[in-house]
Amino acid sequence: MKNLEDLFEHQLKDLYSAESQLVDAIPKMIKSAHDSQLKKAFENHLEETKNHKKRLEEICEELSIKPTGEKCKGMEGLVKEAQSMIDEKTNDEVKDAGLIADAQRVEHYEISGYGTAVRFAKELGHDSIAKKLQKTLDEEYNADQKLDDLAERRLNVKAK
Ligand SMILES: [Fe+2]
Ligand SMILES: [Fe+2]
Repeated sequence: MKNLEDLFEHQLKDLYSAESQLVDAIPKMIKSAHDSQLKKAFENHLEETKNHKKRLEEICEELSIKPTGEKCKGMEGLVKEAQSMIDEKTNDEVKDAGLIADAQRVEHYEISGYGTAVRFAKELGHDSIAKKLQKTLDEEYNADQKLDDLAERRLNVKAK
């Protein structure tokens, strides 16, 4: 990498890998969740996640680069943590509270990644790409907020 454009492209590939890993991982979290509202929240975000992946494909096409070729090791670690919560022997309520905690870690990680990507895109004058990335960033924020509400209002209380 020689400049910010190269670094930006690297970040896009990293995000693409992260979203791809999530498209595989979220269905397992849906299966493992017990609370119907939590299942629904995961299902909704799975659809959004597929869209995030598609948006990155469009962006990479616009930049004439391939979205593949990187492995996001941060997301790999977060998915492993979620998997150990899925495998954990505990009651339904504690499992749901644990799954939310892991899902929020994922959202925060994505928020950080997309926040950087939006800034780089603006800096490089890729205005329409910045807007697309901002859309995803907003959806990550919303997903995190929904999980926050669900944890506070419902699942932590049940697990207590
Ligand atoms: Fe995403
Ligand atoms: Fe997300």
